[in-house]
Amino acid sequence: MSVLVTGGCGYLGSHTCLALLEAGYEVVAVDNLCNSSRESLKRVSELTGQPFKLYECDVRNGMQLMQVVEQNNVEAVIHFAALKSVSESFEKPLEYYENNVGGTLTLLRVMALQKVPYLVFSSSATVYGEQEVQPVHESAALRPCSPYGRTKVTCEEMIEAAARANPDFSAVILRYFNPVGAHESGRIGEAPQGEPSNLLPRLTRAAAGSLPPLVIAGDDFPTPDGTGLRDYVHVCDIAQGHVAALEALERRPSGVLTCNLGAGRPVSVRELIDTFERATGVSVPCRVGPRREGDLAACWADITRARQELGWSPLRTMEEACRDAWNWQSQNPFGYDGPVL
Ligand code: NAD
Ligand code: UFG
Repeated sequence: MSVLVTGGCGYLGSHTCLALLEAGYEVVAVDNLCNSSRESLKRVSELTGQPFKLYECDVRNGMQLMQVVEQNNVEAVIHFAALKSVSESFEKPLEYYENNVGGTLTLLRVMALQKVPYLVFSSSATVYGEQEVQPVHESAALRPCSPYGRTKVTCEEMIEAAARANPDFSAVILRYFNPVGAHESGRIGEAPQGEPSNLLPRLTRAAAGSLPPLVIAGDDFPTPDGTGLRDYVHVCDIAQGHVAALEALERRPSGVLTCNLGAGRPVSVRELIDTFERATGVSVPCRVGPRREGDLAACWADITRARQELGWSPLRTMEEACRDAWNWQSQNPFGYDGPVL
């Protein structure tokens, strides 16, 4: 099967391209490189020994996307391409709606015109917002609290409407919790443009000395050790979830299946720091600071549905995620653009 991966050069896209190639899929990637580098997929080709096509293309460019789909006999799409910073989405809401909603709309129209039957869509736990009941089930009422989160809800709604209108089109919507880590080779990993805002990349850079000591953003949450609880899941498990989603699409009748992808267990900021230090033997300079605005005390996933409907389970431990993240950081202190150590 020929699979189009939008945003293929990014963090989740590159790991998923690798998993797809290893599972025997043909891969075609498109990316406008607004938050990534071609180097990630060059390394995926090296790791798998399989060359594949990357088009420098914006998903909002319907004409170019049509050509890519047509020329490559695309049968399924995995749609990662989006802007993903919660804080930036408050500053540039229209850019977020244009890119995320506009890009998904164009893609859905191209898929309909070209009769591409299967879509896997990247959604996020951010669609849930604050929830009293943890772990969070897919049926929870959606309460996104940022423009970014609202773009994801809007995209989910468009996909559901498209599937209702066309029985030959079906989709799996994956709501990721907190993807972390890197491929075990240390050749591909998370390489955000500019300073990262997520915990693990900040932690590895603080440990490497390229960022100041890690600031624990609040230790007065109503949690066992006072720090925030999240659901960290290895990026290679997330990548495998996409292979499982494609397999499910081929076996299922039409419609939309929405699944959480997480490890299904809560880990606090302090626990993550301890796990990292234990797994790598490297100490993390840190101090406690104020809470970040809008941060949730706790958010973790009920992954029963992904287990049952996709036959997917997270296989990698938090220790492995920490080791892999450190391996990537140590070998590539400047991401894809600098020298490899
Ligand atoms: P990323 O920024 O590393 O990857 C996104 C890729 O899409 C980048 O390569 C970027 O250049 C590309 N892109 C953006 N807009 C584009 C456009 N209009 N046309 C073509 N390419 C475009 O991000 P990621 O962490 O790999 O996230 C992938 C997806 O998963 C996103 O949709 C994101 O919202 C979602 N997600 C990520 C996380 C996370 O923590 N990483 C959590 C939940 C959901
Ligand atoms: N944290 C710190 N110090 C830091 C950074 C983070 O203590 O320097 C803490 C946060 O307070 C939180 C935890 O680490 O308790 C995780 O924070 P992240 O920023 O890594 O992740 P979030 O869960 O806050 O946000 C992530 C994605 C968002 C997505 C959200 C909902 O970054 O895009 O999950 O799933 F919207």
